[in-house]
Amino acid sequence: RRVSREDIVVDKGGHRHFMLKEIMDQPQAMTAALKDRADFANSPADVMQLERVVLIGCGTSLHAAQVGRHYIERLAGIPAEAESASEFRYRDPIIGPRTLVVSIGQSGETADTVAAMHLAREKGATLITICNAEESQAARVADGALYMHAGLEVGVASTKTFVASLTILQLLLDAETTRRLVDQMARGPGLIGEVLAEANLYSSLARRIGHYDNFLFLGRGANAAIASEGALKLKEISYIHAEGYPAGEMKHGPIALIDPEMCTVALAPRDDLRDKTLSNIKEVKARGGLVVAVLTKGDDEAASEVDFPLFIPQAPDLLMPLVTTVPLQLLSYYIALLRGCDVDQPRNLAKSVTVE
Ligand code: AGP
Repeated sequence: RRVSREDIVVDKGGHRHFMLKEIMDQPQAMTAALKDRADFANSPADVMQLERVVLIGCGTSLHAAQVGRHYIERLAGIPAEAESASEFRYRDPIIGPRTLVVSIGQSGETADTVAAMHLAREKGATLITICNAEESQAARVADGALYMHAGLEVGVASTKTFVASLTILQLLLDAETTRRLVDQMARGPGLIGEVLAEANLYSSLARRIGHYDNFLFLGRGANAAIASEGALKLKEISYIHAEGYPAGEMKHGPIALIDPEMCTVALAPRDDLRDKTLSNIKEVKARGGLVVAVLTKGDDEAASEVDFPLFIPQAPDLLMPLVTTVPLQLLSYYIALLRGCDVDQPRNLAKSVTVE
C-alpha cells in the first residue's frame, strides 16, 4: 500500500514536529545511504576519463554540492565546482563528454535542477543524480541515480537528506576509495548520535539567544558551506535575518555589521583551519559581538574566547561537515519553536519548488 498524506500526519515518532523527528533520524539516514553505496561499491562514471566535475542543486542541495566539491577534489584529485542550478541553466556552461555533472536534490523535482540537467544532457555531459525520491524526474533524466534511502522527509526544512547527500558525495567516484572510506564513515552515525544526545542544551541556548534579529554564520573550507546551510535553516523556519559567510570574507564587509545586536555562530572544530577561524572569533568579540561557536570537545582554549561553546566530538575531517551541521539544525529548530513559528510548514515555502 502506498503511504498516504493521512498516514504521514500521524507519524512523528513521538516528536512534536517532523523536523525534530527527521533531525533525530539522521544516524539511520546516514547508515542507509552508506549501506547502499558500500553494497554497490561501483563507480557511476569512468573516473579516468573525467576532466571536471560540476555539482548542481538549489537551497540545501546546493550547500551539499559545495561540500561535495571539497570531497571530490580531495579524494579523487579532479577539479570540481558547485553551482546553483538556477544560474547554471541560464548560462552557456562549457561542458562536454569529459565533464561529469552531478545533480543533488531531495525531491528530484526542483524545476531549476531538472532544467539544468536537461541542459547538461544536451551538451553531452555524463549526468548522475543523487536524490531521495526514486520515481522522480531527476532519476529519469540522469544516466544514473544514486538514491539516498533516507525515507520520507516531510518537514519543509531539509535535514536528514542533507546528511544523506553528504554521505553519498564522499563515496561517489571510485570504488577503491569507497571501500577504503567505508570503515571510517561507519563512525558517522555514532558521532551524529553523540550530538543528538545533547539536544536539550540547544533548547536552553535558544532561550538565551532566540531574541536576536541578526545572525552571521562563519566557517572555513567545507564548513563555509555548513555556515550557509545554518543560515538557511534559521531564516526559513524562524524568519530571522541570517547570513552565511566563509570566515575569511568577514573582514571584506560583514565585519561592519558586528555590534552587540549581532549574534555570530562560528564553526571552529579542531582541523587545519581552526586557528584561522579562532582569529575571526576574536575580531567579533573585540567589536562587542556575541559569539556562539561549534568547537571540538576539550578545546578549552577556544571555549574561553566565546560566549556559548557548543561541543561536538572529534571527527575525521571528511565526516566533520556531517557533524557540525547538527548543532545548527537543532539551534534553528528550538529558536523557531520559541518564536512560535510553524516549523514544519514555514510561510511562503513549499517542500519542492516545481515551478520557477
Ligand atoms: C531546504 O531546507 C529548503 N526547503 C530548500 O532550500 C530545498 O533544499 C530546495 O528547494 C531544493 O530542493 P530539492 O533538494 O528537493 O531539490
